[in-house]
Amino acid sequence: MRVVVFISGRGSNLKALLEQQNNYTVVHVISNREQAAGLQIAQDFGVPTTVIPWKNREQAENQALKQLNDINPDLIVLAGFMRVLSEDFVTKFPFKIINIHPSLLPLYPGLNTHQRALNDKQKQHGATVHYVNQHLDQGHSISQCHIDITDEDSAETLATRLLSKEHKLLSTTVDKIATGQIYRHNNQLYYQNQVITQPIVWSNI
Ligand code: GAR
Repeated sequence: MRVVVFISGRGSNLKALLEQQNNYTVVHVISNREQAAGLQIAQDFGVPTTVIPWKNREQAENQALKQLNDINPDLIVLAGFMRVLSEDFVTKFPFKIINIHPSLLPLYPGLNTHQRALNDKQKQHGATVHYVNQHLDQGHSISQCHIDITDEDSAETLATRLLSKEHKLLSTTVDKIATGQIYRHNNQLYYQNQVITQPIVWSNI
């Protein structure tokens, strides 16, 4: 399975994906920021990169579309990509774009998820991998990981603790899509031939 990854910054989820490539290959990385550290990570793994400044969304998406038409990937992974894709764009790739979001969706779509979980005095926090549709962070959830929130936690400690789990969650989810263990059929999501109605939670993540 050929995967294109979109990033905006640090690229630690991209690195996790690159390190776990067995059943899929990251064939290209697109960044909306020239300074994104993840670009160097891609280059270190020998993966071609393109920077598309996202000043004008329509122009940027047209450029991305051209690139994607040439590459024809099986899956597009948003890994810390901090731009909202238009309805026009995402509807061209139904169930072909996934995103990792640092909250237990449907809780806390959008930004500042860690602080919002703390403000609400949640006992649990986590991350979700979901399909991308035209509604921000509202596409069908695929998988989740959880962490407990303690009284000592800050937004920073939550982000740090969650990140290492995010890496496993994203790379495992992409691997299971690549191996056909996660698939969609007749509008339903399956994992190992069972319809899943709740996000998959793996005991080791
Ligand atoms: C990750 O925590 C990811 O969940 C989050 O940005 C971070 C990127 O880190 N994504 C979003 O907030 C998307 N709305 P990384 O660049 O090191 O992978």
